Amino acid sequence: MCGIIGYTGDKQAAPILLEGLRREAYRGYDSSGMVVFGTSPKLVRAVGKLEELEQKVATLSMDGIFGIGHSRWATHGEVTEVNAHPHADCKSNVFVVHNGIVENYRELRTKLKEKGHAFSSDTDTEILAHLIEHFFEGKLEEAVRKAMRLVRGTYGLLVAAAQDPGKLVAARLSSPLVIAVNGTGGFVASDPAAIITHTKKVVFLEDGEVATVTADGFTVTDLENNVKDKEITELEWSVEEAQKGGRPHFMLKEIEEQPESLQNALRGRLLVEEGKAKLGGLEPFAERLRSTDRLIITAMGTASLAAMVGEYMIEEYAGIPVEVENAAEFRYRKPVIGKNTAFLAISQSGETADTLAALAEAKEKGALTLGLINVIGSTLARQVQAGIYNHAGPEIGVASTKAFTSQVAVLALLALFFGRQRSLSLVQGRRIAEALSALPGLVQKTLESASAVEKVAEKYKDASDFFFIGRKYSYPVALEGALKLKEITYIHAEGYGAGEMKHGPIALIDEKFPTVAVVPSDSVYEKTLSNIQEIKARRGPIIAVASEGNNEIEEIADDVLYIPKTLEMLTPILSVIPLQLLAYYIGVKKGRDVDKPRNLAKSVTVE
Ligand code: F6R
Repeated sequence: MCGIIGYTGDKQAAPILLEGLRREAYRGYDSSGMVVFGTSPKLVRAVGKLEELEQKVATLSMDGIFGIGHSRWATHGEVTEVNAHPHADCKSNVFVVHNGIVENYRELRTKLKEKGHAFSSDTDTEILAHLIEHFFEGKLEEAVRKAMRLVRGTYGLLVAAAQDPGKLVAARLSSPLVIAVNGTGGFVASDPAAIITHTKKVVFLEDGEVATVTADGFTVTDLENNVKDKEITELEWSVEEAQKGGRPHFMLKEIEEQPESLQNALRGRLLVEEGKAKLGGLEPFAERLRSTDRLIITAMGTASLAAMVGEYMIEEYAGIPVEVENAAEFRYRKPVIGKNTAFLAISQSGETADTLAALAEAKEKGALTLGLINVIGSTLARQVQAGIYNHAGPEIGVASTKAFTSQVAVLALLALFFGRQRSLSLVQGRRIAEALSALPGLVQKTLESASAVEKVAEKYKDASDFFFIGRKYSYPVALEGALKLKEITYIHAEGYGAGEMKHGPIALIDEKFPTVAVVPSDSVYEKTLSNIQEIKARRGPIIAVASEGNNEIEEIADDVLYIPKTLEMLTPILSVIPLQLLAYYIGVKKGRDVDKPRNLAKSVTVE
């Protein structure tokens, strides 16, 4: 969360900074600001939507060909103009924008105060401006290197100084930054989407690096000033891909894109005749993976629910013990990792702080580290030993939708990969491969019932609580349905294994408390049906997600949303779609900001 953008070149900086901030807005923010260096630095900040900042910029004359901007999502200090970035030192020489947290800010603040610095905000970030100014002797990059050696915490930092004009200095530790120079100017951003209209050739900074970017070139060093060689990455994503494609919301666009995103996740990876999965990124480690006797999967939020589906699939078809660990927990307990343990981190953004920290822990303990990641070149992608991209394309809606289904599809490939390395037969392998290749078409068919979901949304939009229940492969789907509904609509929703209801939650059921039951025709169908009947007996309304051809369910459920039949392990990819749509339509009907729900950010780069 939080967006950084900087420009230095021969064009007016303010419009470029505003455009960059707009492209980063999907990450979530609560205030924004920029400084443009003309004859003197002009600083402008605003609380709320970017339009507030735009209006202020329009009324001031923000002339200048270099500057930095930021959209903030508050961590330290209230959401106020004074706490918005950029922050400056006492002399208004050094200006900084920062993503991350300065952990030792109290100690640094005390020392700086003793040296006569006065602070105007409650933020940890402001310390950095004063600290850099303290070391400033004319060359900004030198001051940044000296200052950052004293800082503990995480940072994606961008600095500019009135007394060293035309230069952007960026420093990174655990918070992403990308730099680019395109012939007309130099750019720094926290997200490639911010600069994609200017150039697709970018350089990703690594932890501990400091970049000095001017209009016509850049150098990258470490904090000790050792020069680093950097590779230029050509970005895959087009500008169009990052736009809504005619839909009212990114969330709907991304839900509707799932046949394509699944196709992309599967392309070139299915050997149907051989009943095998080909995962190029894992090939160098094939032998080590053959002797893997335990798999730990870690992730947060929706990605961790995809991980649960993966756990069931890999245990069922490959016979490897799998544990799913919430990354925020894993990092602080003392996990036991054997030499044949493989560790898989799943993350759409590849920047989730907890997932990265869990990975670091597993790495230190000697596990083979694997990643299932969407964002190419993200921190996680660069830190794992072997990776698989899910190729879902940019996911801009804050709520994860297409990333989830493509994560599950890749986990099915992984189950096939591990299974065929072990005792999974050719016949079973072929069956999975065939079912996987039919999925994009089945997802398309599922999407065709969107209007039925919209009617259900209309009927239940005023309910104040929902349960979501399911068993076996439908259990993580129930959890995901509840998560989607609460984050998009702000309605209270809880997900349970259907068998859990009578151990407590059923006490809440009455005629005003609907339950969404995920009940495909699978090996636990009868069991789930009994659980639904228990709810029905207490007059709770039931919305069932069931397999086509199941007419019996209509006698019990108040409303039924049908999904096509597929292999049991793949039902989550279909059954989650009506739940995504339900959250979307209820959210829209309640007037929620579905692409940017309150209090949430796309990428959670702080603990
Ligand atoms: C929910 C959602 C979050 C993310 C979680 C992990 O819709 O999007 O729960 O799944 O923050 O994010 P990534 O996958 O980027 O690590």
